[in-house]
This record gives sequence, C-alpha cells and structure tokens, in this order.
Amino acid sequence: MDKIEINGGNRLAGEVRISGAKNAALPLLASSILVNGVTEFTNVPDLMDIRSIKLLLEDLGATCEDGDGRVRIDGSGINKVEAAYDLVRKMRASILVLGPLLARFGHARVSLPGGCAIGARPVDMHLKGLEALGATIEIEHGYIDARVDRLIGNEVYFDLPTVTGTENLMMTATLATGTTVLRNCAREPEILALADALNRMGADVKGAGTAVITINGVEALKPATVEVIPDRIEAGTFMVAAAATGGDVQVLGCDPENMGGIINKLRQTGASVEIFDQGVRVKGDRGIVSTDIKTLPYPGFPTDMQAQFMVLMTIAQGNSVIHETIFENRFMHVNELQRMGADITVSGGNYARVRGVANLSGAEVMASDLRASASLVIAGLVARGVTTIHRVYHIDRGYEALEKKFSALGADIKRIR
Ligand code: EPZ
Repeated sequence: MDKIEINGGNRLAGEVRISGAKNAALPLLASSILVNGVTEFTNVPDLMDIRSIKLLLEDLGATCEDGDGRVRIDGSGINKVEAAYDLVRKMRASILVLGPLLARFGHARVSLPGGCAIGARPVDMHLKGLEALGATIEIEHGYIDARVDRLIGNEVYFDLPTVTGTENLMMTATLATGTTVLRNCAREPEILALADALNRMGADVKGAGTAVITINGVEALKPATVEVIPDRIEAGTFMVAAAATGGDVQVLGCDPENMGGIINKLRQTGASVEIFDQGVRVKGDRGIVSTDIKTLPYPGFPTDMQAQFMVLMTIAQGNSVIHETIFENRFMHVNELQRMGADITVSGGNYARVRGVANLSGAEVMASDLRASASLVIAGLVARGVTTIHRVYHIDRGYEALEKKFSALGADIKRIR
C-alpha cells in the first residue's frame, strides 16, 4: 500500500489550482440515471470515489466515457436496478443512485451502506422521504428494496439537514407526479449545483440552497452538459496548510462565496485571507492564535474542515475548543496528532480541547478517513523531521494528486509505492 513521506518545515509559497468538487460530482453523476440519453460533465476530479461511482453506473448498464476531466454517461442502456454490496461498501455515497433508479424504473435495490470510520451514517431520512412519495421500502439481507408504481409529489420534512438525503429526494421528485416540497433541507453549495444541473435537464426545481425546496414533477429529463463546481474543502485544506506553514499561497479557481465559514475562522487565527477574482491568497506570516470551532450545517463551519483546522490549532498560541456536532466519531486524527506531540484532550465524545505547542515532531502515522488523512499531511508539513503516513488510499478517495500539488508549493513530500 502506498505511503506518503514528508520532511517538514518548508513554508508553502506559490499558486495551486483547485479541482472539481467530489461532493458535487458524485450526485451529478448519479443524476445521469434519470436521463434516457447522454449527460456530459466537465471539470470532474480524477478521484477513487469518482471511479467507484462510474463502475457502479456501468454495472447498472450505463456507458461511461471519460478523459481529461470530461465524463460522458449514456443512461439509455441501463438494464439493472441493483447496486451490489461490493460496489456500495467501497463508497457509501452510492446511496445516491437509490432515488434516481426508483424515479426512472419504479424499482431499486441498493445495498445498505454500512457505517464508516466517522460514524454510523444511517439513511433513515432518505427512506422516509421516498416512502412519503409513495414508495414501499423493504430491508432484507442487507439490501434496501424500494418499489413504486407511480411517485406522487408530497411534503417531506427532514429531521435534520441531510446533504445526500436532500440530494436523493430532490432528484427523485423531478419525475414524480405533482409538486414535492422538501423542508429543513441542507443548504450546501453542492445542492444548489445539483438543482441547477437538474433544471438544465428540464426539471423544475426551486429554492435549492435554502431550507425549502419545491420540485414540480415533469414527464422526463433530457440530455445536458454540466460543469462541476470547484471543491471548497480542497481549497480550505490548502488555505489551512498555507497558514500553518507560515506561507504565502494563492488558491486559484475556488469560489470564496461558498467558503465564508472557512475564511471567517482563518481570519480569526490571524492569518491574512485576501479575496480576488481568481480565488484567495492566504498568508500565515504573522503567527497563528487559537480560536474555538463548532462544526455546523452549511453555511456554518464545515465538518469536513474540522480535522484540518485542528492541526492549525495544535501549533497556535493559546488554547482552543473544537466541538464536532455533525458526526459522532470524527476525532480519529487526534491520537495520531498526539503521537506527533500535539496536546489535545477529548471529552464527552465530541469536544476536543487543544493547547498550542511550539512545534510538532515527525512520526509514522496511520490515516483513518479522508479528512483525517488530509490533517496528517498538514501536520507533516509543519512538523520537525520526517512524517510517514500509511493507508493513503483514504486520501486518494477525495484529493486529486495531493502530494504533487503540495510539492509544487515547495513542500518536501513524496509518495512511496
Ligand atoms: C455529506 O455526507 C458529505 N458526503 C460528507 O462529506 C459531509 O461530511 C456530510 O455531508 C456533512 O456535511 C457527500 O456529499 C458525498 P448528512 P452525508 O446526511 O450526506 C445524520 C467527505 O469527507 N443522518 O448530511 O452522508 C448523519 O449520521 C464526506 O467528503 C441521519 O441520521 O451527511 C450525520 O450525523 C464525509 N439519517 C448527519 O445526519 C440520515 O438519513 C449529517 O449527515 C442521513 C443523515
């Protein structure tokens, strides 16, 4: 298995261009199931999770052609409605094919996505929403079996703002008879991007990006070409790394409009964040002071940036409290950071108290989940000495050529096969 080796201490400097967003591309690729024809996506990142969902779509009978960021999916050949366990277990976002298969074919069998390192990750809100539109759902032998003669628009109220739950129901409702109103929706930019794409395909979706989304069902969706929005979490990861190393980095191609929570918190630490038309410029040359973090649904501070920000707090002046409110087990990076000399105390399961130390020291560490892995890379960049990160396949799920991009910014980092 690949490892990443970092010799820490270099200040990052220069420019990095942000790739398309994994969490925008996944629902978009799933939405191709709704179209009896070809949909084309551009600026698609080259990631393991994207390869996984393409494999799943091809297993269903779709054809996927891709090359240099373009993915062309022909859904007309789909002849199967079952998403098999061995594909779904590799990527739980496969649940996003459930609604589109049900909407187009009246039947879907999707393996229950298991939990993952960060939590149980139930999908009860997805299933309750589909039942509200008339589906009958059975869970048997580890599979969700959903059937419906005719989807009928209805009101759906989410117990809490679920990102993929909102996306699944929004896609499904585009082909229901009548109007569906989704309430207490997640408001992430990736949801607005998906709604824009669905409307380009001929759907009638209003209100995406707010807590109430109204969908008037249509007979069928038609082919469209859609560009994937930039990855705000990848951008945030580079911004935190620039601040942590005392560097000066221009993060190009990101959309600061979608990154208010990240920019606001970074500025509170004393890092300078300048917004310009190409993206943002982050400088960490004035030292970093501690600030508290509480993860919240968008537009609050994103849970996907919590691990990365914790690294910054480990070397800040002062103490900070990090409160993770979205997932029940998203502190897997803490033990590894402690082994690098960080002073962190976890209490009550989702609070971490971080006391800033003068520096971290390089060590052999283990990646556990996507964003925890990214935090270990940042820790390696600032630590004294050599850090070796094992199980980097976690990183490859969500970051395109991460070590190459950091190397181009002056980091002493390499992948060891
Ligand atoms: C999406 O996951 C993202 N994944 C996650 O990114 C992200 O961390 C998360 O949203 C929160 O922002 C994709 O978009 C592919 P949720 P999702 O449903 O949709 C509970 C990454 O690193 N819940 O918004 O699965 C759930 O347990 C990944 O890129 C239910 O209880 O998250 C969690 O506590 C990690 N029942 C909370 O809601 C449900 O039916 C929010 O989860 C659904 C969710």
